[in-house]
Amino acid sequence: MPHDDAKKPASGSRQRTVFPTIAGYRFLQTIARSPKSEVHVALSVELGHNVAVKVLRTGPLSSLEAGEAERFERERELLMRIKHPAIVDVYDWGRGEDFRYIVTEYFPGGSLELRIRNLMTVRDSVDIFLQIAAALQTVHAANLCHRDLKPANVMMRPDGRIVLIDFGLAKHLGTSHTNVGEVRGSPYYISPEQAEGSEVDQRSDIYSLGVMLYEMLTGQRPFKGSSVIAIIQAHRNDPIPVLPEPLTRFQRLIDGMLAKDAKDRFPSVASAVAEMARLKV
Ligand SMILES: Nc1ncnc2c1ncn2[C@@H]1O[C@H](COP(=O)(O)OP(=O)(O)O)[C@@H](O)[C@H]1O
Ligand SMILES: [Mg+2]
Repeated sequence: MPHDDAKKPASGSRQRTVFPTIAGYRFLQTIARSPKSEVHVALSVELGHNVAVKVLRTGPLSSLEAGEAERFERERELLMRIKHPAIVDVYDWGRGEDFRYIVTEYFPGGSLELRIRNLMTVRDSVDIFLQIAAALQTVHAANLCHRDLKPANVMMRPDGRIVLIDFGLAKHLGTSHTNVGEVRGSPYYISPEQAEGSEVDQRSDIYSLGVMLYEMLTGQRPFKGSSVIAIIQAHRNDPIPVLPEPLTRFQRLIDGMLAKDAKDRFPSVASAVAEMARLKV
């Protein structure tokens, strides 16, 4: 868990966070670290409250892959184009000698991952599903595909509203297909076509949303495996799990989102939402 890790005392130089130096920000804590990026909490002197600072190291010693810096810039540009209360707002951005950064609102309540771990009621699952769907409709209306929808990328506000983050893999549709053949995204939430490195469109996000709905409702992921390859094989070949009795009414919705072939899925988020609306009493 990122929040726990951040509280552990730094041991060994590999673990120690060297906060970047950015005028106007007092760095407080590291909340996540991946090979791609670091996310820190900092106090913004100008705003007078805490913010999240996502940092990409670009120095000669960083393990930066080709195109990673461009991807980081694109994430910021895309975020700045979409204005929606459920899509994270960019406050500031910039670069230093060996890093680039994006400053956004900080969500201390953690992500949907934590909520799922504590088990969710059907009512809450439906509510969160509809909120993510609304944010996703805005993303799709901008002709974008998020491509990395998963509970860790859905942050929770204290009042229960959600905010989508991490547009690092988001892609503008209808542009050149430079990303075909490149597999990214979490294996548990990835669509079969994305796992194959084929061309994806909004229906791939609908698949990931379906995986999240299944997990919220049941507390389990629909497709599992002991390795990335095994999980991907399960997405491609395993039948869609049958929901237990009290959840039977959601089966059609789940089937329409988790269909292996994108052609058999709901064609739009709106149509999945319409199906959910029919189910709600
Ligand atoms: N604004 C934020 N507020 C609170 N936590 C955040 C915020 N942004 C990111 N995080 C935490 O950091 C993790 C990684 O950030 P993310 O933008 O998803 O980067 P990556 O591209 O490395 O996945 C998230 O899963 C979340 O736990
Ligand atoms: Mg992420």
